[in-house]
Amino acid sequence: MQEGFISTREALARGDGERVKLRGWVYRKRDLASKVFVVMRDADGVIQCVVDRSKADVAAQASSATIESSIEVEGVIRSDPRAPGGKEVEVEKFNIIGLADDFPIKGGESIDYLLDVRHLWLRSRKLTQIMRIRATVLKALRDHFTSNGWWEVSPPILTQSAVEGGATLFSVDFFGRKAYLSQSAQFYLEVMIFSLERVWSLTPSFRAERSRTRRHLYEYWHLEGEAAWMDMHDMMKFVEGLVKSAVKAVLDERQEELQFLGRNQEPLEETLKSSFAEVTYDEAIERLQRKGVNIKWGDDIGADEERVLTQDERVPFFLTMFPKHLKSFYMKVCDRRPEVALGFDLEAPEGYGEVVGGSQREDRYDVLLQRIKENNLNPDDYQWYLDLRRFGSVPHSGFGLGVDRLVMWITGIDHIRDVIPFPRLRERIYP
Ligand code: 4AD
Ligand code: MG
Repeated sequence: MQEGFISTREALARGDGERVKLRGWVYRKRDLASKVFVVMRDADGVIQCVVDRSKADVAAQASSATIESSIEVEGVIRSDPRAPGGKEVEVEKFNIIGLADDFPIKGGESIDYLLDVRHLWLRSRKLTQIMRIRATVLKALRDHFTSNGWWEVSPPILTQSAVEGGATLFSVDFFGRKAYLSQSAQFYLEVMIFSLERVWSLTPSFRAERSRTRRHLYEYWHLEGEAAWMDMHDMMKFVEGLVKSAVKAVLDERQEELQFLGRNQEPLEETLKSSFAEVTYDEAIERLQRKGVNIKWGDDIGADEERVLTQDERVPFFLTMFPKHLKSFYMKVCDRRPEVALGFDLEAPEGYGEVVGGSQREDRYDVLLQRIKENNLNPDDYQWYLDLRRFGSVPHSGFGLGVDRLVMWITGIDHIRDVIPFPRLRERIYP
């Protein structure tokens, strides 16, 4: 099947007069009196293919190829400044592999309609560029863990207990008993650090979010890490390196895609050159008050406040040291200020807001038990989690990174549904 075929990208790098064999899909077509122009796309890009009407049989084939038909072409490379990429293929053979019916996307359709035909809309050049960037981000993140000696582990998705509170749990029937779809692999990763020390996983996480926003999905991709012997600041340093590795890979390897999307690359370049600042919750409240936001110490910093804090920033920064009543029971309580938890969020600039949530974990049995009770949770449900503090407890920290949120910021896309191929939306689980 593969023999002799090259990609559009390779073809555009070939010299005039070279013979090439290509295959892909009809992206655009123009029938003129003397020529048929077919712009063909493949996974790498597009190339213009030209058939002269003097080759009547070949021109007839090209002419009958509908938009989105799959095709094979053979021909010779010619420079032409008017062609996309500066070169075109002078076609000598043109085969239709799969003739397409009238393609239901013609341009100008509503977002709702495009979601109905998501399985076809994913062929669009915009979504293709985003998916390529997404793959590069995922590869960079994985490589960063591996090259720093972290172990990948495989936690379950069906769970018994809430990590991030009951309000956003999806329940499923598990042979007559109630089980839940995982919100976070954190507790399972905490188990694994007692053997592997530094572990990570990439899994779907599920949140039955009540509010619909541009940055919430019901099912999202969660990259989580957990490590023994690391305190909050050690983990923040690691997260900074992790996020920078993804930004660097995209700047190095996905230039054409960023340009296609019209992404301003300056904030990404500045991100690589800067070190991420730490802004405490106390400072953030003051900043918000100075900007005229009606907020006081103890109030939650939600999506709206995050937008205010990040919209004029160009580089990600950490928000830290939250009032403990705003955060989960597992976060370690600060020794010097017992009303504060050792948590950190990474805030993406340019209005994007939280992309990572992490903390140092409460490693003292008694304090953890107390926190479970204070949060009106049943200690029996957390027996195995408490056990970790009974048998060789260690200081440890961890974090969860929303992959979709990170891709959203890096690509500069304004809605999270466009950075994941099959977004689950409240109105539809489709396709
Ligand atoms: O801040 P969160 O809720 O933290 C946790 O789940 C921790 N247990 C993670 C850990 O420490 N292992 O979620 C972590 C990240 C958020 O910062 C955000 O980027 C992303 O997950 N996230 C979502 N992304 C898309 N849609 C949603 N509904 C999301 N909820 C959280
Ligand atoms: Mg969070």
